[in-house]
Amino acid sequence: MLAWVAVATFIPLVAVESVYKLKLHKVTPAINNFALEGGYLAQKYGGQIELPWMGAGDYGRNVLIDGLAHHDEAELLWTQEDFVTEGGHIVPISNFMNAQYFAEITLGTPPQSFKVILDTGSSNLWIPSTKCTSIACLLHAKYDSSASSTHETNGSEFNIQYGSGSVEGFVSQDTLAIGDVMLKDVDFAEVTKESGLTFVFGKFDGILGLAYDTIAVNHVVPPFYHMINKKLVDSPVFSFRLGSSEEDGGEAIFGGIDKSAYIGKLNYVPVRRKAYWEVELQKVALGDDVLELQDAGAAIDTGTSLIALPSDIAEMLHLQIGAKRSWNGQYTVDCKTVPDLPIFTFTFNGKDYPLKGTEYILEVQGTCMSAFLGMDIPSGSQLWIVGDVFLRRYYTVYDLGKDAVGFAEAV
Ligand SMILES: *[C@@H]1O[C@H](CO)[C@@H](O)[C@H](O)[C@H]1NC(C)=O
Repeated sequence: MLAWVAVATFIPLVAVESVYKLKLHKVTPAINNFALEGGYLAQKYGGQIELPWMGAGDYGRNVLIDGLAHHDEAELLWTQEDFVTEGGHIVPISNFMNAQYFAEITLGTPPQSFKVILDTGSSNLWIPSTKCTSIACLLHAKYDSSASSTHETNGSEFNIQYGSGSVEGFVSQDTLAIGDVMLKDVDFAEVTKESGLTFVFGKFDGILGLAYDTIAVNHVVPPFYHMINKKLVDSPVFSFRLGSSEEDGGEAIFGGIDKSAYIGKLNYVPVRRKAYWEVELQKVALGDDVLELQDAGAAIDTGTSLIALPSDIAEMLHLQIGAKRSWNGQYTVDCKTVPDLPIFTFTFNGKDYPLKGTEYILEVQGTCMSAFLGMDIPSGSQLWIVGDVFLRRYYTVYDLGKDAVGFAEAV
């Protein structure tokens, strides 16, 4: 057994380039996507990350979840299939190169369409406003309140401050349609200023947050809470199947579970802190090498393509799979080695969830990139972010009634 102890890591500080000097045209678009993901993730979770063009430092808005109750002792008092709900409202998901998954929503009357990331790692709905002149806004669909007969002014300021940018705007109210669900009087943010390259290059216009209302900026009621409050769903659950091709992006189901989308039983894991969909991560393993974790959480995040983990563990893992740090701070392996790489396994609530090399390594136009990203998130305890790489293999159910995440092997 190899020593999975924390090592003091030293990552040479590559010349810090301004983000705008990054020669994006020389890089393939898909690689851009993943390269930008690290910065975006750091912003979202307040993580510490070191990417050549960002320099070292803390890039995030600090989501203050430290003070929230921990549910380490949370126990499951129900049996697995007790509360499987069929039916529900289906929302098809589009898949852009396995890097961005988004869905169509409309706001207003007559409806204005937007592509949004259905994001279990945040809790606000925001879309660009016609009042926005940032580059990211110019390139995306914008909400025009003056063209909607159901728009109501609210005007309270909305601001998510990132270390390297921000999303600023104000709250508005209008009718939201998602799938066949129509929600009246939904508060959301009309964004008037968007900085950050992720938003410029994103295929999506905005974000629809599906995490707990405890981390909603301005305490705006998140859309799924509206669905529950207005009794538009039979049960307070939603579920995700993420497809693996552009033709099949998968779907989200609000108020239900698609029993034909997974094999075996759903294994429910209690949420240990109601902010993100954070569950206890008991251990991880690479091949036969097991790392038992103490007080570690895993945020199950549909809005993230990668898997973020503490940087010391990431270093160790990359060493073991023979990954090399590339010019852009990402880790790559020789594509020939991928089929023979050891299995990586997460353990939640006593059950193992393995990923093969071909799953945790992303082949992007001839480059084999590791989906593991070292990032230290100040959250009171170790926090891993488990994104689409995992969610393509495992069907997930997010249950606000039982405060648990259900996992099963996707079909
Ligand atoms: C504006 O929106 C906020 C956030 O949803 C809400 O708390 C507040 O009551 C709203 N104010 C008005 C005047 O509607």
